[in-house]
Amino acid sequence: MDLPRSFTIRESNHRIHNPFTDSKLATLGRAIRLRPGMTMLDLASGSGEMLCTWAREHGVTGTGVDISTAFVDAARARAVELGVDDRVTFVHGDAAAYVAATPVDVAACIGATWIGSGVAGTLDLLERDLHPGGLLLVGEPFWRTDPPDQATVEGCHVSAKEDHHDLPGLVALFGKLGWDLVEMVLADEDSWDRYVAAQWLNVRTWLDANPDDDLAGELRAELDDAPLRYARYQRPYLGWGVFALMRR
Ligand SMILES: C[S@@+](CC[C@H](N)C(=O)[O-])C[C@H]1O[C@@H](n2cnc3c(N)ncnc32)[C@H](O)[C@@H]1O
Repeated sequence: MDLPRSFTIRESNHRIHNPFTDSKLATLGRAIRLRPGMTMLDLASGSGEMLCTWAREHGVTGTGVDISTAFVDAARARAVELGVDDRVTFVHGDAAAYVAATPVDVAACIGATWIGSGVAGTLDLLERDLHPGGLLLVGEPFWRTDPPDQATVEGCHVSAKEDHHDLPGLVALFGKLGWDLVEMVLADEDSWDRYVAAQWLNVRTWLDANPDDDLAGELRAELDDAPLRYARYQRPYLGWGVFALMRR
């Protein structure tokens, strides 16, 4: 059970595997008013940057669960680097099957709502680990601008327009599911560039070092298309944000 190797090649240099910068992650940590001793669970925690930096900045403790052995190793190394390895733990496994030993103050899934087959199912997964009165964090894409045609939809890596809401639609969905939206921090074009454009140099560097690898042909073809696809479709049309929710 592991993430396909192409993902870890593309994002080999990323600490945040989402269209957020260090600064936006820090803004979110301040916005939700974390306090020392608060407990967190992060499902699909990637390389652990959120838990590690928030443990350092705010004194939280927590557990991250991720299916990628490479990202879990990176998260453990980052915890040591930041001197918070006594406060955060990273577990390799399927986040959908993980249940925390005790309920937490903040339960998060940032950019992986497929683990619960969509937003509603992921909020259910997170809520089962949450203290009454606790906070959920969910990271999710949305249409910034209505996609005019199927080419735009597919250029944004989904097969149907209905695969994403627009921002009002997403906010309405949280309400319909019985959650108050109490904070949000949104990506912008610059933070999208840090996530996506940084992948191109990772792929190019890897291709130069591994020309005969089984994945070289696939990743070469991807790099031929990815920048234009991003500039034409994803950058203008796709938004992304982290939404903080409390049970109404
Ligand atoms: C877009 S990345 C987000 C990572 C992290 N939340 C962040 O913001 O940096 C999606 C993550 O989901 C993980 N993932 C995918 N399916 C998973 C599953 N079933 N259980 C746990 N992790 C999973 C991937 O390994 C990857 O780290």
